[in-house]
Amino acid sequence: MTKRRLVITIDGPAASGKSTTARMAAERLGYTHIDTGAMYRAVTLKVLRAGLSPDDSAGITGMLPTTHVVLARGQNGLRVMLDGEDVTDAIRTARVTRAVSAVSSHAAVREAMVREQRAMGKDGGIVLEGRDIGTVVFPDADLKFFMVAGIKSRAQRRQKELAERGEKISLESLEREIAERDTRDASRAVSPLRKADDAIVVDTSDLKIEEQVELVVGTARKKIGKGHRG
Ligand code: CDP
Repeated sequence: MTKRRLVITIDGPAASGKSTTARMAAERLGYTHIDTGAMYRAVTLKVLRAGLSPDDSAGITGMLPTTHVVLARGQNGLRVMLDGEDVTDAIRTARVTRAVSAVSSHAAVREAMVREQRAMGKDGGIVLEGRDIGTVVFPDADLKFFMVAGIKSRAQRRQKELAERGEKISLESLEREIAERDTRDASRAVSPLRKADDAIVVDTSDLKIEEQVELVVGTARKKIGKGHRG
C-alpha cells in the first residue's frame, strides 16, 4: 500500500505561531514546508524597491509576469528567492510588514501566488501556512488548522523575533501593528483571513511550541493510519 501524503494547511492571524509550527511539523513528517506569507512579502519587497505604491494595482499587476518567487531549501532552512536573489532576511523588515497586507489584497497578486502554491502542493506531502490556504488554495486539504492567540502573546513573540534581528520595537506599537494587519487581512474583498468550517482551532496563547507541533503531527499520523510514517 502506498503511504498517504497529506496536504496540511495552517491558517491564522499574524504572529499566531504558524511558521514555527509548520516548519517543525513538516520536518518531522518528512514533508515540504511552504510559508505563503513569505511569498507575499517577497512581492511586496519588489513593489517597494520599484518605488510603486502598495495600492497601485495596475503597476503591481504589470510587474507580476516578470516576478519569480521561489521557496528553496537551503542549508539554513527555507530560503526565499526573488528573481534569483536570496531575500530571506530582507522580507522581514518593518517596512515590508507595513506594506504587505495592501500588496496582497490585489486579485492579480493572489492569482499568481495561488497558482504557484497549488502546483507545489499537487502531490501532497506538504504543510502550507498562510491566511487563505484552507479556504481558497486547498479547500479539500486532508487536515486543516486555524491558529489563534491573544494579542499580548502575539506581540511578545514578535518582539522577541525582532530583537533577535536587532530591531527594537515597543510592545504597544507591535500590538497596534498586528491588530491593524489582522483587520486588513480579515476585511479585504479577495480571500480574506477566515477559518475554514472544517479547520481545527488551536489557541496557542499558552501552548509551548513542542505542544503545537505534537498536535499537528499527532493528528496527521492518525489520519495517515497506524504504522505509516507519512
Ligand atoms: O508571519 P506573520 O504572521 O507576520 O505574517 P506572514 O505569514 O508573513 O504574512 C504576511 C502578510 O501576507 C499577511 O499579513 C497577509 O497580508 C499576507 N498573506 C496573505 O494575504 N495570504 C497568505 N496566504 C499569506 C499571507
